[in-house]
Amino acid sequence: MHDIYISGTGVWTPPHKVSNKELVESFNEYVRLYNIENEQRILDGAVAALEPSSEDFIAKASGILSRYVIDKDSLLNPRIMKPMIEPRDNDALSVSAEISVIAAQEALKNAGLQASDIDAVIVSTANLQRAYPAIAIEVQNELGIEGYAYDMMVGCSSTTFGISNAYSDIAAGKASNILVINPEITSAHNNYKNRDSHFIFGDVCTATVVEKNSTAPNKFKILGTKLKTQFSNNIRNNFGFMNAIENKEYTEAELLFIQNGRSVFKEVMPMVASLITDHLSEHSLLPEDVEQYWLHQANINMNTYVIKKLLGDDFPPERAPNVLEEYANTGSAGSLIAFHKYNHLAVGQKGIICSFGAGYSICSILVERA
Ligand SMILES: CC(C)(COP(=O)(O)OP(=O)(O)OC[C@H]1O[C@@H](n2cnc3c(N)ncnc32)[C@H](O)[C@@H]1OP(=O)(O)O)[C@@H](O)C(=O)NCCC(=O)NCCS
Repeated sequence: MHDIYISGTGVWTPPHKVSNKELVESFNEYVRLYNIENEQRILDGAVAALEPSSEDFIAKASGILSRYVIDKDSLLNPRIMKPMIEPRDNDALSVSAEISVIAAQEALKNAGLQASDIDAVIVSTANLQRAYPAIAIEVQNELGIEGYAYDMMVGCSSTTFGISNAYSDIAAGKASNILVINPEITSAHNNYKNRDSHFIFGDVCTATVVEKNSTAPNKFKILGTKLKTQFSNNIRNNFGFMNAIENKEYTEAELLFIQNGRSVFKEVMPMVASLITDHLSEHSLLPEDVEQYWLHQANINMNTYVIKKLLGDDFPPERAPNVLEEYANTGSAGSLIAFHKYNHLAVGQKGIICSFGAGYSICSILVERA
């Protein structure tokens, strides 16, 4: 078997940053208007009055202080409360493909490769812009890549499952150098009118070059991957192509992200800690043998729970880098942003990239700085 490496990564960050203060002000104005416009129905008991959001709650419950989004004006407009984009012709590059190409170009540069060195593209994301043709094939075409390309979706584990697929494809001899790209336009599936979750998400696009026998100066050998899924309705998005033929009038909210956050917390955390421990023991390693953990970025309290289980209470923060404060939950891309920005492994040291989220789905990738 050949050695297989992560040889370059890239991150595209949207131009618009939204602070908790801005988000809460807009939400609370929406609440004020709603409660005035529905005053009589509230008095009649037909609907409940809405409660305001709070910056303090968001920071304490999630660790999120800001997020980047593809459109800020409409999202913060209390009469709109969602991002808006201009429609594009079929002949124009889609938004997902456009940001994928930018992230991919940075990953290629960091790997010291050209697009012509790549022989497969995997676009893996929690939310695909369309069913087909695959965004990955659109990106392949835009970058002039020979070979094959496909899309895949595994909720918040899409990035790590995509890297795992690239690893398996290379090990099976299907390709030598694969681009894995994760356009996460999460703001389009978030419900900005929902107090429980309006603060959770941010947009981003990440890209990773997975390469056979790399000669890149700054590379990470993939020692193995471990995947687990278990069905749960606690994180769900019911949007789909069959909505239109169902005998039901959906509200906008019913086709956006919904979750039972408390249950997610309680059920997923023990699964993550034991999957990582099992993965490490398969490689005759203990949690303390791993220098850095780049965990899924959904909630700071979740990450603290996992890392305390693995390393004990007094772990140095740089061993589990956090990008939540700046980026919020970027669907499947969070662990890769943390890996890209905060990686201090010396040659021979090991790290874990680990996602967890909808499905439930968990994936641990064990790497060694080469
Ligand atoms: C979503 C999450 C941050 C909520 O935190 P939490 O501590 O569980 O908060 P709860 O939903 O239990 O709400 C606690 C209280 O805060 C209130 N609250 C909720 N949203 C609020 C807001 N925006 N502002 C102020 N108060 C709020 C609730 O009404 C509740 O009040 P009560 O105690 O009087 O009933 C947390 O559950 C979480 O992150 N879970 C994991 C989610 C996750 O990772 N999902 C994966 C997505 S890919």
